[in-house]
Amino acid sequence: MLTGVIMAGGKGERFWPKSRLKMPKQFLNIYGDRTMIQQTVDRLKRIMPVENVFIVTNPDYADIISKQIPDIPTGNILLEPMGRNTAACIGLAALHTERLDKESVMVVVPSDHVIKDEDEYIETLKTAVEKAYQGDYLITIGIKPEHPETGYGYIKCNRISGETISNNEVYPVEKFVEKPDYNIAVKYVESGDYLWNSGMFIWKTASILRAFKDHMPDLYNALNVIKAHMDKDDIEKVLYEEYSHLESISIDYGIMEKADNVYVVPGDFGWDDVGSWTSIERLYQKDEQGNVINGNVISIDTKKCIIAGSDKLIATLGLEDVIIVDTEDATLICSKDKAQNIKEVLNEIKKKR
Ligand code: GDD
Ligand code: MG
Repeated sequence: MLTGVIMAGGKGERFWPKSRLKMPKQFLNIYGDRTMIQQTVDRLKRIMPVENVFIVTNPDYADIISKQIPDIPTGNILLEPMGRNTAACIGLAALHTERLDKESVMVVVPSDHVIKDEDEYIETLKTAVEKAYQGDYLITIGIKPEHPETGYGYIKCNRISGETISNNEVYPVEKFVEKPDYNIAVKYVESGDYLWNSGMFIWKTASILRAFKDHMPDLYNALNVIKAHMDKDDIEKVLYEEYSHLESISIDYGIMEKADNVYVVPGDFGWDDVGSWTSIERLYQKDEQGNVINGNVISIDTKKCIIAGSDKLIATLGLEDVIIVDTEDATLICSKDKAQNIKEVLNEIKKKR
């Protein structure tokens, strides 16, 4: 049996002010005419029934999810009492996929990525799923790196020396390094041996539970306590208690860096994790001056800017490398090279409250 897990608890802070705590970017229409999470569900529905798809999120987003994805059974929206990063999120989901079938293969995906070539994506996924059915493997989908991005995990493929890395093939992973520093990332990209981790994982439910037992025993024990209470009246209380004690750690640091049964399937399907405003430049057509403009905008002598507004007129004159995002109650004006630092603005906003 094939099951799907969509991780949807993130806050999408670097997309402020379009992305808000109440409505983070996974619920927005950033690319295409459906929201990112709707598109994520649509893709999974190509290989499994919606009843097999679980969405793990925080209680604030339960209503938005039910509205945006009306066909998802309410019981498949798994609510975490607090965010404890992706290892816990995946662990909780595994308790539910285990109930359907312990040997089920889980396809774990983020809720906020753009995939331009869906047919090719499905081909890549199918290769990974086929491998996962065959044994105790933890499989990731790798993307050929384009620049020394420090916000990604890097995967070193184990292959015969000189052999080129082909898409939709399975390779053993020699090393998984989560978010290396810049100089190391430069070396990795230059070497040609590394792939970016796309943040999607494929494995049997039994395999990931075994990995938690081996590498994250505290999480494994907490999951067992939760499991013992799953059908009882006190499940919410137990979930809260167990989550409160958990360390906040991602699956990448907690499992992928440590396990020795990791495999990668390289894919090329127009992937973009839309990490911040600058990624908009990769997704949308630029005008002759290199601007990406959305909304009612007059731009004179304006180059390489990203401008996102609505009906309200925005006029710019003599600007270069600036991001302007205008919403009803907040406007961002930001130098392009500071797009990654928007969290600093949010910290100031929190202080003001
Ligand atoms: N339910 C739930 N609970 N979801 C969460 C939580 C949580 O506590 N934390 C994060 N998520 C969701 C996010 O909404 C996102 O869809 C996904 O899990 C990944 O989390 P990110 O916080 O976006 O991870 P990242 O971007 O720093 O790094 C991961 O993705 C990169 C590619 O985009 C890693 O897997 C990297 O190795 C990878 O390169
Ligand atoms: Mg991310």
